[in-house]
Amino acid sequence: MASEFFHAPVLLNEVIEYLVTGAGIYVDGTLGGGGHSEKISLTLAEKERALAEKEQALLEQAQRENKRSLREPQSLVIGIDQDQVALAAATKRLSALNATPFRAIEGNFGNLTQCVKAALQTDTAPKLKGVLLDLGVSSHQLDEASRGFSFQKAATLDMRMSQRSALTAKDVVNEYDEAKLAKIFFEYGEEKRSRTIAKRLVEARQIKPIETTDKLADVVKRATPRVEQTKTLARIFQAIRIEVNQELDALKRCLTEAHDLLESGGRLVVISYHSLEDRIVKDFLRQMSADDWGAKGVPIQVPLRKATMKMLTKKPVEPSDEEIERNSRARSAKLRAAEKI
Ligand SMILES: C[S@@+](CC[C@H](N)C(=O)[O-])C[C@H]1O[C@@H](n2cnc3c(N)ncnc32)[C@H](O)[C@@H]1O
Repeated sequence: MASEFFHAPVLLNEVIEYLVTGAGIYVDGTLGGGGHSEKISLTLAEKERALAEKEQALLEQAQRENKRSLREPQSLVIGIDQDQVALAAATKRLSALNATPFRAIEGNFGNLTQCVKAALQTDTAPKLKGVLLDLGVSSHQLDEASRGFSFQKAATLDMRMSQRSALTAKDVVNEYDEAKLAKIFFEYGEEKRSRTIAKRLVEARQIKPIETTDKLADVVKRATPRVEQTKTLARIFQAIRIEVNQELDALKRCLTEAHDLLESGGRLVVISYHSLEDRIVKDFLRQMSADDWGAKGVPIQVPLRKATMKMLTKKPVEPSDEEIERNSRARSAKLRAAEKI
C-alpha cells in the first residue's frame, strides 16, 4: 500500500539564500516532494510582489489615472523528476500553491537541456537563472517498502527511481558476474570487503536467486563482522542503487549542461549526501572556477580556458545541529554553490 508522499526538504533556507537572486527561470532537477520548489516559488512570488508594488507606486505617482502595473510576472519554476510518484505528488502541491508559474516534467536531469525544452515545448532552451540539485533518494522512496531501496524493509529488490527503467537491483544482484559486483561495491560503496561480499553473493545465488532486500541483507550480514553490519549494509545498498540508476553519470552530465544553460549571474546549487557525489561536484566547480594554464612548466600568455564560474561556498554548507535533530536524514548533506560569470 503506497504511503502519503513525505520528504522534509534539507537546508531549505540555505538553498533559497544561494539560489534565488531575482526573476527568471529556475530548474529544480530533483523535484521529489516539491519542498524546495515550493519555497523557490513562494520566494519568487514575494519578490515579484514587492517589485510590482514598488513599480505601481511609481506609476501611480506619475499617472494617477492608470492603476495597472506595467510589469508582468517573469519567473517560472521547472521541476524535473524521473519518479512518476514524486512528480504527481509535487505537481499537486505546487499547482495548489498559486504562486510562481510552475511546470513539471518527467525526465532524467542527466538530460537537462532536453527536459527544459520539453517543459517549455520549445526547440531551444532558454538561459536559466538557477539550477538546484538535491541528490539521492527521497524519504518517500526509502520509506515505501515496495520500492526496494531499504535494507530495513523486506521487499522485492527493485531500487529504480524511474519506473520506466529496465534495470532493477534484482538484475544487478543475480546477473552481474563476481568481478563486476566487487567493482561496484568498491567504487560506489567504498566497501573494503567488496570481494568477499561479491563472492558470497555469487555462492548464495547459485543455490537460489536472491530476489528480496532481506535475503540480500542476510548474505551481506553473513560476510561481515557483527559490529560493522549496519554500515556495510548501507554501503552495499548504496552501491547497488547507484548502479541501477546510473547516478554518477547523470550527475556529471547534468553539471555540464547546467553550466552551459545558466545565464551570467545565474546560480548552481547542489546538495550531495555522500563523498562520491560531493567529490564530483567539488571537482567540477573547482575546474570551472579557475583559469586553466595547462601543464606546469609550459609558459603561455593566456589561459587555455578562462574561469566561467565563481565559487560561492569555499567550504560546503552543512545542516545545523538543530536541523539534524529534526531530520536525521540531513546529517550527511553538503551544499555547494557557484555563480556563472
Ligand atoms: C532528495 S529527493 C529531492 C527532494 C526535494 N528536494 C524536496 O524538497 O522534496 C531526490 C529526488 O530526485 C529524484 N532524482 C534523483 N536522481 C534523478 C535524476 N537523475 N533525474 C531526475 N530525478 C532524479 C529522485 O527520484 C527523488 O525524487
